Amino acid sequence: MTVATPSSLYADLNVDAIADAPLASRTWYGVGGKADVLISPRDLASLAMLVRRCHRDQVPVRVLGSGANLLVSDAGVDGVVLSLDSPELRSVEYNQQGCVEAVRAWGGASTEKLVQELARRGLAGLEQMAGIPSSIGGALAMNAGGRFGCIGDAVHSVAVMTPDGNERVFLRESLAFEYRHTNIPDGIILWAVLRLREENPITVRDRLKEYFSYKKNSQPMSDASSGCMFKNPLLADGTRESAGRLIDLAKLKGFRVGSAFVSPKHANFIAVDTVGGRASDVAAIAQQIISRVFDTHGIMLEREVVFWGADIE
Ligand code: EPU
Repeated sequence: MTVATPSSLYADLNVDAIADAPLASRTWYGVGGKADVLISPRDLASLAMLVRRCHRDQVPVRVLGSGANLLVSDAGVDGVVLSLDSPELRSVEYNQQGCVEAVRAWGGASTEKLVQELARRGLAGLEQMAGIPSSIGGALAMNAGGRFGCIGDAVHSVAVMTPDGNERVFLRESLAFEYRHTNIPDGIILWAVLRLREENPITVRDRLKEYFSYKKNSQPMSDASSGCMFKNPLLADGTRESAGRLIDLAKLKGFRVGSAFVSPKHANFIAVDTVGGRASDVAAIAQQIISRVFDTHGIMLEREVVFWGADIE
């Protein structure tokens, strides 16, 4: 690790800060090293000041969501890792401007909890996110989704804190939500207003159950992994091929590098041993899969999982 992040960046702010904070237990992989400093701002003003100072001093800022799509290097990461888990930054506000169908979810809110609460309230439109673990900010940043749709389908507007600490709001019309990609500018996703529709709570819950059981039957949800490692590649005819199928056809199910292995259930899931797991093994197996799939199919896979740390980024 390089120079330690000075505490003068955050000591006078309304934040919780942990120096040398272990990150492994905060990710689904459960492996990897420490954050130089992990900071949870308790209010928006402190977040803005911190972001401004980091920008001024060129200190890297990374946002940790639910850690579901993230691999942290065994050597850890420098700079500031932000956690938006304070009550203000993970809140959900219903009945926006008197409209029962408009809900504002802050970036740190849990998508899983929100999906359940919306069903309870009889609000439909986010069921496609059933079984996709994420924070709202993390899901928006990559337009997370699956067979039944993506988070972008429900978005009315998004607010982003730019690196200079200012807030900008983007309306749906200016936003593009594509396959695992959006044009939301770099910065910290503060909140999204979701546009939902009223429906019988039982119908919404039944849909949630159906989507969730599809996932459970086709994917290894109990292994330590980050879901799909690679994006489904775009073919010349404009369709996407399942990266899982390509890896499977390259005979890589069960393939192992040290503590990391290709799931025998769905080949796009790269899991790691819960005891003795190493991020370097996951990064190495990902590289080998890319080469083997290229040799077999002539298709270059692109990673979906985000890697943090100088040695694996
Ligand atoms: N298949 C295989 N072998 C495998 C995996 C899949 O032959 O090891 C075949 C399946 O039998 C099926 C086809 O490939 O015929 C497609 O499989 P699946 O329905 O599982 O979909 P996918 O394209 O592999 C995508 C998303 C998943 C999402 C599922 C279902 C990506 C990279 N993956 O997978 O998302 O859950 O559709 O909606 O877009 C994720 O993003 O983390 C993720 C898991």
